[in-house]
Amino acid sequence: MSQLFRFGVSLSKNLVEKFDRLIKEKKYTNRSKAIGDLIRQELVKKEWEEGKKIAGAITLIYNHHKREILNKIIHVQHNFNKVIISTQHIHLDHNNCLEIIAIKGNSKETQELFDALKSIKGVKHVTLNMSSTGRGID
Ligand code: NI
Repeated sequence: MSQLFRFGVSLSKNLVEKFDRLIKEKKYTNRSKAIGDLIRQELVKKEWEEGKKIAGAITLIYNHHKREILNKIIHVQHNFNKVIISTQHIHLDHNNCLEIIAIKGNSKETQELFDALKSIKGVKHVTLNMSSTGRGID
């Protein structure tokens, strides 16, 4: 962690009161951590928008009985092997599978992978967790 730096911020009383209520609900114990997290959230968003090296995860929910679905999912993942660092498959019940794909690499390529998986017929739900390699956000 880099050196700590103190700075003053002027905001309306109303906004500060709302912020304090919000961070209390979110279990923050002080404003500094909450403000730091908001700043890091914006920095991570920027990393994604600018096509930087990122990390994250994609989750998929699908019925493995659907015709050809497994082949299609595997095919797409092989096409994006440069950004996929690991895949975990969980059999949720008799029909439904959860797949968690860990990602590290270029953000644009990751978004293309996400779109390709989302468009496969029979895939019920897909999420993209946009996180960071942690290097640019202190
Ligand atoms: Ni399964």
